[in-house]
Amino acid sequence: MSALQCLTFLFLCLLLLQNTTSASPLRLARRWPSHSNFAKHPRRVVFPVNRSSCDLFAGEWVRDETYPLYRSIECGGGMIDPGFDCQTYGRPDSDYLKFRWQPFNCDVPRFNGVKFLQEMRNKTIMFVGDSLGRNQWESLMCMISSSAPDIHTHIIHEDPLSTFKILDYNVKVSFYRAPYLVDIDKIRGKTTLKLDEISVDASNIWRTADVLLFNTGHWWSHTGSLRGWEQMETGGKYYGDMDSPNEWTSRSKASTITQGAKSCYGQTTPYSGTTYPTSSYVSQKKVIDEVVKEMKSHVSLMDISMLSALRIDGHPSIYSGDLNPSLKRNPDRSSDCSHWCLPGLPDTWNQLFYAALLF
Ligand SMILES: *[C@@H]1O[C@H](CO)[C@@H](O)[C@H](O)[C@H]1NC(C)=O
Ligand SMILES: *[C@@H]1O[C@H](CO)[C@@H](O)[C@H](O)[C@H]1NC(C)=O
Repeated sequence: MSALQCLTFLFLCLLLLQNTTSASPLRLARRWPSHSNFAKHPRRVVFPVNRSSCDLFAGEWVRDETYPLYRSIECGGGMIDPGFDCQTYGRPDSDYLKFRWQPFNCDVPRFNGVKFLQEMRNKTIMFVGDSLGRNQWESLMCMISSSAPDIHTHIIHEDPLSTFKILDYNVKVSFYRAPYLVDIDKIRGKTTLKLDEISVDASNIWRTADVLLFNTGHWWSHTGSLRGWEQMETGGKYYGDMDSPNEWTSRSKASTITQGAKSCYGQTTPYSGTTYPTSSYVSQKKVIDEVVKEMKSHVSLMDISMLSALRIDGHPSIYSGDLNPSLKRNPDRSSDCSHWCLPGLPDTWNQLFYAALLF
């Protein structure tokens, strides 16, 4: 089995808001594996300070005129969904493209597509999750294509598995759509999330990957007609909602109150600041830490929540090819404040992924 003995990434974005409110991934914990197959070759000094004092996820956004890393026209062939292609669909401002994430104690290495492909030769990198995973998958395709321009590539768009093949290096970068990650099935006529299970079909495909990046979040907290499930099952017991004994619901509400005040429409600069504007993550972080600690595979939590929460300016709002003109005239109701423009924030997620994976 080629798969899980390599470095496995757990990338969790919890998106708790819908519709017009600004939604940002929650702050979660991160844990580096002490060793991995990719680190067997001698360690190169890349971060200017030693690794243990470098927290990639604590830092600030700084203006950088060399950004963005690519233009949307540089990644043709339908790599960017219309819903993320803000510049093509009329976004008038471009300052939001000019920010770089700067950790306090070290520098993030600049993404080098050729190096990435060389190191990943014969390997499969797979994003698993909801449309934010797709957002990040498309970003990585664009980053690779623009920084390794002479490669021969091929994209297969299918549901649930889409694959970008870089033929010259025998590398696959895939996206597997699984918004809840866990299995979802009809039990006694009710659509049920089986919290302890992954479907056989999904796990057979995930096993073929060398590196897996997971994300999940806002599908869990949809309500009303948007909710895609009727009950949850764990340990043979059924639950109608995420409240007691589980604390997610009250935590989501806390986040909604602190973040939901402002629509992303018309926002052109990041929030200033270097901390997440709420402490509701502390308890959540503990839960995640405990779960990750118990996992047998090498797992890292990419804690992109705080840095993303600051980027109120990075969402498509109405500059999405998915909105018709009448929806665009009504930003308060139809702005997309969940996904992210490309180029944009997901490029930073991938730069951090690249740094965590290869350095
Ligand atoms: C690395 O950084 C940590 C935390 O600042 C420090 O305690 C440790 O001594 C440093 N190690 C080396 C080899 O510099
Ligand atoms: C990649 O696969 C090819 C063909 O099987 C093999 O010749 C080559 O050594 C492999 N390279 C790496 C780095 O695994």
